[in-house]
Amino acid sequence: MAEQTPANSSYRKVLVTGANGQLGSRLTELGQKPGLHWVGYGRPELDITDEERVGKVLDRERPDVLVNAAAYTAVDRAEEEPKLAHQINAIGPAVLAKACAERGISFIHISTDYVFDGAQHRAYLVADEPNPQGVYARSKRAGELNVEKAFERCREASWWIIRVAWLYDVRGKNFFRTMVQLGESGKSLRVVDDQFGAPNAARPFASTIERLIQNLETVPSGYWHYSTEGPTSWFEFAKAIFALKGLEVDLRPCTSADYPTAAPRPKFSYLDGQYFAEVLRVERVHWEQELEQELKEN
Ligand SMILES: NC(=O)c1ccc[n+]([C@@H]2O[C@H](COP(=O)([O-])OP(=O)(O)OC[C@H]3O[C@@H](n4cnc5c(N)ncnc54)[C@H](OP(=O)(O)O)[C@@H]3O)[C@@H](O)[C@H]2O)c1
Repeated sequence: MAEQTPANSSYRKVLVTGANGQLGSRLTELGQKPGLHWVGYGRPELDITDEERVGKVLDRERPDVLVNAAAYTAVDRAEEEPKLAHQINAIGPAVLAKACAERGISFIHISTDYVFDGAQHRAYLVADEPNPQGVYARSKRAGELNVEKAFERCREASWWIIRVAWLYDVRGKNFFRTMVQLGESGKSLRVVDDQFGAPNAARPFASTIERLIQNLETVPSGYWHYSTEGPTSWFEFAKAIFALKGLEVDLRPCTSADYPTAAPRPKFSYLDGQYFAEVLRVERVHWEQELEQELKEN
């Protein structure tokens, strides 16, 4: 997303949980800006399910805003570890939100397109009813509801839940990196062409969260959908990655039935990110343009 107008900022200290993850690391790498001070806590320093430790860290750091980028994100493995997924994705956000609400700390929580069942044929709006399928999706939805509940009676601080889909980075472990590695290996590949959504790079998403933090007073509390322009399929995403990387790959489309996974995936989970972009006064970028930019700038 390209910035159009100067931000309305005042000094804010921002604490990021899950700071070693894909999104968390991009947030803490944004660099200190006038009026913004970032502090990152990875899992070894702060386990978000440890209530006592969370309280101690917040009392010591006294942030104005907390961004929870920590999560259990192994969608298929979650089917075998439902308790752990629930503990991290549902209880963790509850612990953080309660601690923030008690201390008047604004809270930004990240959630997922997987809270929807994917039966719809138009972009998902915030007003659409979630219907999570699978353990990971249900644990993320439970986390959303726990955040809402923790702030029910809080007048001193607000909360924002931002749903995002298909998060990737040109580094680390994710769909993009897997495709590049497989493409370089020279193997033939089949990628599903009947699941639709939009890829979102972690770095521009982190910048949008920064933009939100600089404009908290003007963005109402509640649920928000963030997305590049799309939609597309995983197959088309893979095709674009290979084209931009100059890799010649024997790539063919397949169906979800050809490629069974432990957890169900929504067929269509494209989020309508237009309203969020308008409120923040940022321009939405097409997913393919964003991919090209990420490859150029990283
Ligand atoms: N990745 C996607 O495609 C995608 C799509 C839609 C939405 N999202 C959402 O976007 C957010 C960020 O995702 P991401 O891709 O950045 O995830 P990620 O790369 O898996 O990072 C999550 C981080 O959370 C940490 N963590 C796990 N349990 C923790 C705990 N109990 N306390 C503190 N930290 C803990 C992990 O540490 P360890 O590595 O040590 O476990 C990891 O560093 C999540 O809310 C996710 O649900 C992601």
